[in-house]
Parts: sequence; structure tokens; C-alpha cells
Amino acid sequence: MKVALIGYGNVGRAFARLVEKKRAAFPFRIVGAHTARHGTAYDPQGLPVEPAFGPAAPDIDAFLAHARPEVLVELTPLNPESGQPAIAHIRAAFQRGIHVITANKGPIAFAYAALAEEARRSGVEFRHEAATMDGTPVYNMVRNNLPGVIVNGFAGALNSTSKVILGAMSRGLTLEQGIDEARRLGVAEADPWFDIDGWDSACKAAALANVLMDARLTPQQVERRGIGKVTPDKLAEIEASGKTVVLVSRAKRTPGGVKLRVRAEVLDRHDLLASVRGTSNLLILETDLMGQLGVFTLEPGLEQTAYGLFSDLVDIARSL
Ligand SMILES: NC(=O)c1ccc[n+]([C@@H]2O[C@H](COP(=O)([O-])OP(=O)(O)OC[C@H]3O[C@@H](n4cnc5c(N)ncnc54)[C@H](OP(=O)(O)O)[C@@H]3O)[C@@H](O)[C@H]2O)c1
Repeated sequence: MKVALIGYGNVGRAFARLVEKKRAAFPFRIVGAHTARHGTAYDPQGLPVEPAFGPAAPDIDAFLAHARPEVLVELTPLNPESGQPAIAHIRAAFQRGIHVITANKGPIAFAYAALAEEARRSGVEFRHEAATMDGTPVYNMVRNNLPGVIVNGFAGALNSTSKVILGAMSRGLTLEQGIDEARRLGVAEADPWFDIDGWDSACKAAALANVLMDARLTPQQVERRGIGKVTPDKLAEIEASGKTVVLVSRAKRTPGGVKLRVRAEVLDRHDLLASVRGTSNLLILETDLMGQLGVFTLEPGLEQTAYGLFSDLVDIARSL
């Protein structure tokens, strides 16, 4: 199966390494890679993990016309205001009858319902397992293993930076020292206030709710209060009473539609949502037929994100 990548940064390279590693069992070929500043690379026989980039394709349509992939993997950075230009890249692929996989939560946080409908009309697949929990099966778990189940809500501790900062504060360090620690671990966004103010969690909540609950909401419609007001002193006081603070993303189906909320919540220290630390993530779904069930990942990295993309690719290949 021929695959092209738009965006060839950390995740693109990790994905290319995984495709290379599993080539004997899964004969996928990366036939093109397009970037913003490094140019474009093509090889119908399959690119090496470190391709020699040539001049940039003039636009996405020209890139897709030249590379002729069966699947596009969209890996450009998140635009938290609109989800663009990733949404336009995905549409260009659909118009050419190309399946799409993305690790970018922008398109599903801002335009999932429209994109899913356009994919259906074009007769192609649109997958995004790696976008929210670094490849841990959430979307594919519901799609493949929970037929007939209705998701009525969820609660998740989904933002690594906030957990690293709160962990640092609970050791008596300042917010700034917590940010430095998150930067050293490579988990903080370029602007760490995007995580601290809850925007990352809001994007993830909107993405999950749009796919799992047909919410049709954007991150701007998430009620949001981050961890910016938590201080080491306040946290010490809370922890002395057996509780702790967690940045939680919640969704709830109500008669008036799906409601989304991100908030720094005071939880019992033994609450399940307080059990994941650092870069680990946890999500609990509320369902009609399976009660509460959840997934978690312990300290996921780029390999797990790459696997989320790979699992989508295998699923698409099997469905053809
Ligand atoms: N890193 C993670 O652990 C992780 C986990 C889950 C999901 N994600 C998501 O995966 C996506 C990729 O993340 P990353 O860490 O690989 O990012 P990255 O290292 O910053 O790489 C981004 C790539 O996109 C290219 N690019 C930027 N704007 C472009 C445009 N308009 N057209 C074409 N190419 C463009 C860049 O080109 P240049 O190389 O020329 O700059 C670069 O190759 C993001 O949406 C991120 O949120 C990342």
C-alpha cells in the first residue's frame, strides 16, 4: 500500500521507522513526504527514513498528483484556532479518493462531522487514533469492540504538561520550575500556557466528543478553567487533607446537547483520575451497555504515537 506524508517532523520520522521495522509483515511504502521548509521527497519504490528532500511541491494538490498515494498521513502541527491548514490537506486527499490518517487533533476538534461525511461521500476512510492519546486505542476500541454501545460521557486526565507541573509543585517547586521540567521532558507545547490554561485539554475533549458522541462542538465551546491559579502553598494545603488537583476533561450528554468542561478539579488522592502521573494518560468512558470502562497509557512516547497511525493503516488495508 502506497502512503504519502504531509509533515515529516518527530512523528513523521517515528512513523517511517515503524513502517521500515514492520516491512516484512506489512508491505507499506512511503512514496512521498512534503514539509513546510525542508521541501518535498518522492520515490515510488519507497523512501528511506531520512529522505533527500528536493524542491517543495507548489501545493498539496500537486504533491498528491505526483506522489499518487492510496493513503495520506497528515502530520502538520496543531492550529488551535481553526484546525487549518490540516483540514484543507485532508479535503484535498478526499477529493482525489485518497484515504486519510492523522495524528493532528485540529481537524477532529474543529470539523469532524463535516470531514467524516465528506470521506463517506468520497468512499474513503478517515482515521485519527494517534490524535488524542498517543496511539492508545480509543476511537478504534469503540468502533471495533463496542458495537451498539452509546457513549454518554467521559472523564480524562489527558494533558501531560499539567501533570508534570502539578507533580513538581507537590514537591515544593514553582510553576516556572514545573514548566522547565515539562520542557526537559519534551511534552510542553511551544507556549506552555496552551497546556496550563486548558486549551490542549479542550481540543482533546472536543475531538473525543465529536467522534464518540457526535457533539459537533469546537474547543472554543468547552467551559475551561486551567491550573494557572494553583500555587505550591494551595496544593500543599489540599494534599494535607488527602486530596489532590488534576486537570480533568469531562463530557456529558444532556437533553440540551453534549456539554464539555475542562477544569482543575480537587479529587480524592485515590480517585482513578488522580492515579496517572507525569506523561501518563487516562480516559474513562460512560456507556449505556458497558457501564464505565477506560484506557490508560503509562509514559507514552513517539513510538506509541507512530503505532496509532500504523494501527489505522493496517485497519484500512484490511478493510479494502
Ligand atoms: N510529538 C508527539 O508526541 C505527538 C503526539 C500525538 C500527536 N501529535 C501531533 O502530530 C502532529 C505532528 O507532530 P510533530 O511532533 O511531528 O511536529 P513537528 O516535529 O513540528 O513536525 C511538523 C512537520 O509539519 C511540517 N509542516 C508544518 N506546516 C506545514 C504545512 N503548512 N505544509 C506542509 N508541512 C508542514 C513541518 O515542516 P518543516 O519540517 O519544514 O518544518 C514538519 O515537517 C501534530 O499535529 C501534533 O500535535 C504529536
